[in-house]
Amino acid sequence: MMDFPPTTLRDLRVSYDLDSLTEDSAPAEPYALFNAWLQDALKHHLPEPNAMTLATLGQDGGPSARTVLLKGFDEQGFHFFTNYDSRKGHEIAADARASAVFLWTQRHHQVSIRGTITKLPRGEAESYFAARPRGHQIGAWVSEQSRVIPGREWLEQRQIEMEQRFADQDIPCPPHWGGYALKPTEIEFWQGRVSRLHDRLRYTKIDSGWTLERLSP
Ligand SMILES: Cc1cc2nc3c(=O)[nH]c(=O)nc-3n(C[C@H](O)[C@H](O)[C@H](O)COP(=O)(O)O)c2cc1C
Repeated sequence: MMDFPPTTLRDLRVSYDLDSLTEDSAPAEPYALFNAWLQDALKHHLPEPNAMTLATLGQDGGPSARTVLLKGFDEQGFHFFTNYDSRKGHEIAADARASAVFLWTQRHHQVSIRGTITKLPRGEAESYFAARPRGHQIGAWVSEQSRVIPGREWLEQRQIEMEQRFADQDIPCPPHWGGYALKPTEIEFWQGRVSRLHDRLRYTKIDSGWTLERLSP
């Protein structure tokens, strides 16, 4: 096994002792608690507080994961934007089940979500796209996300072409670019505690609302 002097990985130890999470303090539905933890991450200026690891089901049956940015959440679920023709886009089209994880490590918080993904309405993609910086808009036209390309020059050449194509005009939202919502069937909140006896509370969706259970750490 590779070693990293002077500190080995096995000597890296965090004591999780910031807070606790109890059934009494947990709201009846998970979005309020998610919002409280997200606000906590923002308040503490954590890096990339809206980043989540999104796992989908690969078309070979294996899992496939990457980071995306949360851009909103409501009863439809957790929203993110991407290229519908990307690897994840094809995987979601074939099987809408997915999982996402937020890690707010300095706050000893993890949120794990399981659910299914649906596309957001086209109008939402268009209005969000219109608000993005022009360079990002060009990037969305340039990138055939997840495709193997011959080299960096291919990207830079396409960037020049797209800048010429859209010179002196508003850049429309590409047809292949849009949003998804991950609608949870389960959300687990993990609060680090001392001696690795962490608090884990899991909400599961039922017809009338949510059930709440405590899991062993
Ligand atoms: C911090 C961070 C945020 C990212 N946010 C997004 C995002 O919101 N949407 C997106 O399509 N890719 C985002 N990416 C890039 C993805 O991780 C990934 O490389 C890309 O979506 C292609 O994934 P795929 O080939 O599995 O479809 C982000 C990467 C990082 C490191």
